[in-house]
Amino acid sequence: MLELDNIKLSYGSSQILNGVNLSVKRGDVVSIIGPSGTGKTTLLRCINYLAKPSSGNITFDQIRMDYQSVNKAAVQAIRLRTAMVFQQFNVFKNMTVIQNVMDPLMVVQRKSEDEARKIALEELDRVGLSAKRDHYPSQLSGGQLQRTGIARALAVRPDVILFDEPTSSLDPELVGEVLKVIKDVTSSGITSLLVTHEMQFAKSVSSRIVFMDKGVVASEGSPADIFDTPSNPRLAQFLNSEHSL
Ligand SMILES: Nc1ncnc2c1ncn2[C@@H]1O[C@H](COP(=O)(O)OP(=O)(O)OP(=O)(O)O)[C@@H](O)[C@H]1O
Ligand SMILES: [Mg+2]
Repeated sequence: MLELDNIKLSYGSSQILNGVNLSVKRGDVVSIIGPSGTGKTTLLRCINYLAKPSSGNITFDQIRMDYQSVNKAAVQAIRLRTAMVFQQFNVFKNMTVIQNVMDPLMVVQRKSEDEARKIALEELDRVGLSAKRDHYPSQLSGGQLQRTGIARALAVRPDVILFDEPTSSLDPELVGEVLKVIKDVTSSGITSLLVTHEMQFAKSVSSRIVFMDKGVVASEGSPADIFDTPSNPRLAQFLNSEHSL
C-alpha cells in the first residue's frame, strides 16, 4: 500500500536521507529503529510531505508522486489518509481533550459538530480518556496528553498511522499506559509505522523491523531476524548499546 523509492533529502550541505527504500503492506506494523540523527523522523515526515525530499518517489495505493515534481492534490490526498502521533504530543493547549479530537474532523473532514463529537467519544473511550474529555491539556499527565494525541490521530480513521517516538518524552511510570494503547491500535489491523527506542515493545508488536543507519535502510526483517540474529555488524552494535542504556 505504501512504497518509498530512493528517497533523498539534504538540509543545507548535509545529506540526511541517502536513498531510502521502504515497502509497507496493508496491515503491516513496521517499527523503524536506529541511532539518533539517522533520519527516522525525517523519513516519516517525507510521507506526509512535512519534510521535502529532493528526489525519489512515493506510491500510496493509487497515488503516485515523484518528489521532483510534486503535485499538490497528491500531497493533500496522502495527508488525508495518514495521521501522525508526535513525540511532543502536539495537542492544542487552548482546547479541551474532546475539542482536540474533534478538531481535525470538523476542520479537515468538514464533519458536523454532532458527528465529530460522536466519533471523538468513541476514540476517547478506546484510549481510556472519556472521563477527562472536558479537561484542558494543562490538567493532564504526559501519558494522558499522548493518549489524547493518539485519539486525535485515530479519529480521522487514517489508512496509515505514523508514530514518532510516542513514549520518549514521558516519565518512565507513564510509558506503560501509552504502550498499552499503541498495542491495541497496532493489533486492530491498522497499518502502522512506529519509530521507537522501545526495543522490547517493537519486538512484541511488529510484523517487520527496519534498521536505519546513516540515512539508509541498513537492514530489515522479522523481529526474530533483527533482534535474535542480527547479521549487520552496525545493527548488532546498535542493539548492544540500546540494551546497555
Ligand atoms: N528542519 C531541519 N533543518 C536542518 N536539519 C535538520 C532538520 N530536521 C532534522 N535535521 C537534521 O537531520 C538529521 C536527522 O534528523 P532526524 O530528526 O530525522 O533523526 P532521527 O533519526 O529521528 O533522530 P532521533 O532518534 O534523535 O529522533 C539530524 O542531523 C538533524 O539535526
Ligand atoms: Mg526522531
